[in-house]
Amino acid sequence: MTAPLAGRDFLKLLDFSADEIIYLMDLSAELKAKKKAGEPHRYHEGKNIVLLFEKTSTRTRCAFEMGGMDLGMGVTYLDPGASQMGKKESIEDTARVLSRMYDGIEYRGFEQEKVETLAEYSDVPVWNGLTTEAHPTQIIADMLTIREHLGELKGLNVSFFGDAQNNVANSLMVACAKLGVNFTACGPKQQMPDSVLVETCQHIAELSGATINLTEDPEEGARGANVIYTDIWVSMGEPDSIWEERIGLLEPYRVTEELMALAEPDAIFMHCLPSFHDTKTTVGAEIAEKFGIQEMEVANSVFEGPQSVVFDEAENRMHTIKAVMHATLMDKE
Ligand code: CP
Ligand code: NVA
Repeated sequence: MTAPLAGRDFLKLLDFSADEIIYLMDLSAELKAKKKAGEPHRYHEGKNIVLLFEKTSTRTRCAFEMGGMDLGMGVTYLDPGASQMGKKESIEDTARVLSRMYDGIEYRGFEQEKVETLAEYSDVPVWNGLTTEAHPTQIIADMLTIREHLGELKGLNVSFFGDAQNNVANSLMVACAKLGVNFTACGPKQQMPDSVLVETCQHIAELSGATINLTEDPEEGARGANVIYTDIWVSMGEPDSIWEERIGLLEPYRVTEELMALAEPDAIFMHCLPSFHDTKTTVGAEIAEKFGIQEMEVANSVFEGPQSVVFDEAENRMHTIKAVMHATLMDKE
């Protein structure tokens, strides 16, 4: 069996070629089919992984836990604040301790630099389960979801609306550039992606035949899009005090039915979740009371509507995270 990613870390999509990303998507599809058919795939029986979460999670944690168990592995979960890491023990020491005990380490937290350091000092694969700058496992699931719904990725138009400088937008832009998918960041100039990353992606896109566009005009962003993608306006780790400013900046970029009507007729709506599409959450209710808005980054009618594929996306987190673990934990030959 060939194992092109054996022993590799999974820290950011810039580290992977288009072929490697497609390999992960294909492997995910294979593991998904096995799961659906009830075929066991305990390829890593006897191994153990540890999941370090410095921020909360539903999908990513469950995907690593379920995926790990389906692969036959033991799983340890350390919740925010439950380990010595950072407070009483450096990342460097934590990495050296955990890699003596475990076969793989997942990390969700703040600076990208932290997960990179963890990987540098660890002897086993380290997987990025979200940092302030990147969310690479999310995007493998998103690309698989797009391929399942729309077929061939090359040449499609993906538009990201709202806080276009967050982790999800950054990783989506990188994947689009690599895979020949045209990417548009649509938001106010204050929330545009980092110019160095944009330039890097434009160079990559030149080779793959894709385009990278930035626009402040929602109509321009939506017209001709095959995929309309959005995420929450304030990410984990950002202060609550920023809500008022973000609402002011990002309300024109809410994904509404009118906006969806400008996209291709068979366009899909995507969101990494969790989403503030109604007031059924504590934060959603608080924002409604304070600022008088019932829905934030996406209208409830779009979220619940026929073009929304958000729960397919959420399910694919498990199949793709399982593929990332399987690919990197394989024996070298
Ligand atoms: N999309 C995503 O990463 O969800 P969680 O925060 O629930 O893991
Ligand atoms: N941008 C969001 C993604 C959550 C999955 C955050 O970082 O909170």
